[in-house]
Amino acid sequence: MPSSRAIGRIGDLSSITPWLPGRILDFGPGDGWPSLEVASFVEEVVGVDASERRVAECARNARRIGVQNASFIHVPAGNPLPFEKQTFDGSVAASSIENSPDPEAVLSEIFRVLRPGGCLRVSYESLRRYRGGQEREAYLNFDHLPHAAMVIHERHIEEEWAR
Ligand SMILES: C[S@@+](CC[C@H](N)C(=O)[O-])C[C@H]1O[C@@H](n2cnc3c(N)ncnc32)[C@H](O)[C@@H]1O
Repeated sequence: MPSSRAIGRIGDLSSITPWLPGRILDFGPGDGWPSLEVASFVEEVVGVDASERRVAECARNARRIGVQNASFIHVPAGNPLPFEKQTFDGSVAASSIENSPDPEAVLSEIFRVLRPGGCLRVSYESLRRYRGGQEREAYLNFDHLPHAAMVIHERHIEEEWAR
């Protein structure tokens, strides 16, 4: 039986199907998920991460496994995305938006750079177990959807590094 994490990750991949073979933005790829897997199915993937070390790691992993259509850019948390509006056909964000200091601003930026009809596929992890459960919650208001809850945790993204 696959774990719920594995199922979520398969969902990340299958969610790109309507966008083939477009340009995909990966917000917060970490060490390359899902950019490096998604790259096989699309024209181009651009990953933006607030950690320079993570960006370097993504690029290193791409070289290591021979992925040539994925690039990675360092964008400090809180900065606007360095793209024109309507640049991307779709976007993925795996366990990243809830880690950013201002998730609503991030969503707004992703919306700006998506083409009309482009979709964002978000997955997020429960941070309840981290740091003594000191998370806070934000509620995102969509005009046409019920409230969505997103758990947010205060983190220092620039200082983080995957061991
Ligand atoms: C928990 S990791 C997830 C990495 C990967 N997507 C995965 O699922 O394995 C969160 C990533 O989001 C990045 N991140 C958090 N806030 C960000 C922001 N405001 N802008 C860009 N990247 C951000 C972090 O640097 C980190 O690489």
